[in-house]
Amino acid sequence: MTTCSAPGKVYLFGEHAVVYGEPAVPCAVERRARVTVDPRDDGRIRVDAADLSLDGFTVTWGDSIDDRPDVDVPAPLVEAAMEYIEAAVRQARDAADAPGVGFDIAVESAIPLGAGLGSSAAVVVAGIDAATRALGTELEPEEVARRAYEAEYEVQDGQASRADTFCSAMGGAVRVEGEDTRTIDAPPLPFVVGYDGGAGDTGELVAGVRALREEHAFAADTVETVGDLTREGERLLADADPGSEPSDELLAELGGLMDFNHGLLEALGVSARSLDAMVWAAREAGAHGAKLTGAGGGGCVVALDPSPETEHALGYTAECEQSFRAELATEGVRVEVA
Ligand code: MEV
Repeated sequence: MTTCSAPGKVYLFGEHAVVYGEPAVPCAVERRARVTVDPRDDGRIRVDAADLSLDGFTVTWGDSIDDRPDVDVPAPLVEAAMEYIEAAVRQARDAADAPGVGFDIAVESAIPLGAGLGSSAAVVVAGIDAATRALGTELEPEEVARRAYEAEYEVQDGQASRADTFCSAMGGAVRVEGEDTRTIDAPPLPFVVGYDGGAGDTGELVAGVRALREEHAFAADTVETVGDLTREGERLLADADPGSEPSDELLAELGGLMDFNHGLLEALGVSARSLDAMVWAAREAGAHGAKLTGAGGGGCVVALDPSPETEHALGYTAECEQSFRAELATEGVRVEVA
C-alpha cells in the first residue's frame, strides 16, 4: 500500500491565457489530495473516493469504464473523476511497464472539485506517483508532472495547459509558458480563498474563450493583455525577497494586477455573479486585490490580505459558502506512506 499526496493551487495570474501560450503563475496551496494505491493481479480498478466535497463513491471496473455499475452520486462527477483516475492509471502502467496490473485506489481530498483549486491535477499527480511507487518505480516530480499533463490533456480533449499539473507536482510558485515550465521564488503571499460551493465546467469555459478569441480580434487582444500583466507580476515577484513577509507596497502592486486580471477574465465571459460578489466583498474588506481562480463559471476566488478582514467578510457574504486562508505549499507531490 502506498499513499502520496499533492497540493491544490490558486492562480495568481494567467489562467485561460496560458492555454494560448501566454505565461501563467499558479501557486500551490496547503490543501491536498491523498491517493492510496494497492496493486491487484486481476487487472481491475476499484476506486473508493471519500471527502470529495460531495458524497463519496465506490466504483469497480474491468477493461473499460463502460462496465461501471450505477452509483448514487451525480453522473458527470463520477464520470469525470473516473476518467481522470483511469488516465492516471494508464500513465502509471506505462511508466512502470506493467500493462495488465489492476489497482485498489482510495482518494481523499480536501480540495473542492471543479472549483478552480486544481482538484483533478492534484488527484492525477498523487495517483501517478503512488501507483508507480507501488509498482517499484520512482519518478522524478518533473516526470510525474509530464505524465499528469498527458493524462489531463487526454481527458480534457487537448484543452489543458501544463500549469495545474506542474504546479501540483512541484509545489511553491511556478511559471508556465507553453512547454516551458519552471519553479520561481515567491514570498509567502497571504492568500484568502472564497468558495461559492459550486463548480465550473473547465472544458466548456475553455471552449467559450477559444470561440470568442477566434471571433473577435479584441478578445484575442484581451488574452494577450492577460499575458502582459502576468509578465509584470513576475517582475514584481522576481524583485521581492522570497525569505521575508511581502511589503504592503508589493501586495498593493500584485493586488492591482489581480484586480485587472479579474476584469479581463470577466470580459472573456468566464466569471459568474457569485464570483464577482465574492471579489467585491474581498475588495471592500480591504484586500489588496481579488480575482477568480481557475476556469471560472463558479467555484473560488483568491484575494491577498494579511489581515483577518477578508476571510471574515467573505464568511458573511451570501454567495460564499466557505472562506479560508491558503498557505503557499512549498512541497509538491510527496510520499505519505511508503
Ligand atoms: C484551469 O484550472 C485553468 C485553465 O487555464 C485551463 C488550463 O490551463 O488547462 C482554464
